[in-house]
Amino acid sequence: MSQPGHLLAIDQGTTSTRAIVFDAEARAVATAQCEFEQHYPELGWVEHDPEDIWRDVVKTAREAMAQSGVAPRDIAGIGITNQRETVVVWDKATGTPIHKAIVWQDRRTARLCADLKADGVEADVRARTGLLVDPYFSATKLAWILDNVAGARAAAERGELAFGTIDCFLLWRLTGGKVHATDVTNAGRTMLYNIRTQGWDEELCRLFRVPMQILPEVHDNSHVFGTTAPGLFEAEIPIAGMAGDQQAALFGQACFAPGMAKSTYGTGCFMLLNTGEEALASDNRLITTPAYRLNGQMTYALEGSIFVAGAAIKWLRDGIGVITHARETNDMATQVPDNHGVYMVPAFVGLGAPHWDPDARGAIYGLTLGAGQAHLARAALEAVAYQTMDLADAMVADGGRTPERLRVDGGMAANDWLCQFLADMLDVPVERPVHLETTALGAAFHAGLATGVWSDLDALSRTWRQGELFRPAMKAERRRDLAAGWKDAVRRTISK
Ligand code: G3P
Repeated sequence: MSQPGHLLAIDQGTTSTRAIVFDAEARAVATAQCEFEQHYPELGWVEHDPEDIWRDVVKTAREAMAQSGVAPRDIAGIGITNQRETVVVWDKATGTPIHKAIVWQDRRTARLCADLKADGVEADVRARTGLLVDPYFSATKLAWILDNVAGARAAAERGELAFGTIDCFLLWRLTGGKVHATDVTNAGRTMLYNIRTQGWDEELCRLFRVPMQILPEVHDNSHVFGTTAPGLFEAEIPIAGMAGDQQAALFGQACFAPGMAKSTYGTGCFMLLNTGEEALASDNRLITTPAYRLNGQMTYALEGSIFVAGAAIKWLRDGIGVITHARETNDMATQVPDNHGVYMVPAFVGLGAPHWDPDARGAIYGLTLGAGQAHLARAALEAVAYQTMDLADAMVADGGRTPERLRVDGGMAANDWLCQFLADMLDVPVERPVHLETTALGAAFHAGLATGVWSDLDALSRTWRQGELFRPAMKAERRRDLAAGWKDAVRRTISK
């Protein structure tokens, strides 16, 4: 039976790849997921094998479509969303990557960034890109590959190589090597894209020594980028939406009005505040980033990027074996009356906003003989909320209003204890939607707008459903004490 109007979202994250089929009511009708291997070749380095990623994308996409019972010819479009900043460089003739992907968490270019900052370039980079000079963003990682893979720089200059973030690499592969393109939200994370003039910036390419011929074309988020190569799926499907995962989550949470904010709890935590047509510059070390561009009209966001949220829970599970499943942390945190003075600063890969300290490393403070596993689990969850609080404070200090409500999503948002603690520490109601897969939904929304499944933003807003509302219930004095304990722990962790 024909059931048109479905969308396939590919959500390629830092530790797992998901494919979800959505119907025209924005309901997920089938999901396939798999985790993939992380590579840590040296201290502070994080890599992915792009071939693993490609294999998992094809596998999960096929599985999700098969499970959904929707024929591939009835999939109106594919939306791609992805871990941002991660760098892939491949040979255009063969489609083969010349190096493993260097992941956003990788700190190998910390020294180069420190030198650039010492040269006084940060203010200019910031004015052009909205970003801070930090190894987090793609430019220095791309330069590292060009400098460290034999012959790469010369090949790039001859136009034989292509650079892309994960969305762009997947688009290349999905279209059988026909399309080399990205979208404004992913381009905006490279530190090579001028978010004001909305084009690749020649000065920045010179500064970071990136030959411009290696860069992809940049399009709106809702745009027919290309069509899947014959034989890949049972039908040739348009790839009609692309967005970096955090911007996709903002879109999937229907935060379309200036002042609306969301926080997504995946590997990291990223809080984005819609600032409308204004690219608000932060005085508090937040970043300015494209939220989405539709019909050539850019909407911007202020972003606070925290590098470790779910990754701390993964560490409790895989690193020290305190838990066997992430969901146990909910009960463990409830088992103990308080944090017993234990604070965890999860600076495993340095600290992001608002500190931006690539050399900081994780620390646990306040251990006594009375501290147990439950306190550790609680400290890890609390740290996620404290970091979100720091971001919200920075946004307010930047002239934003405290959002009336914070919309949350991502895997960790399923944790009731965390959501309540978050509402308590931020002192604002926390809204959790019925469907937590808002990142994938945001990609589907973009593809659905481009293919006519939905007509406009109002139609998308109507699909958003609130699940649970967590109201602040903590006394102000206790909130102050906890916040003071956290700030003291952070102060002791900062590397300089
Ligand atoms: O900027 C990095 C971000 O896009 C990673 O997202 O969901 O893998 O934590 P996630």
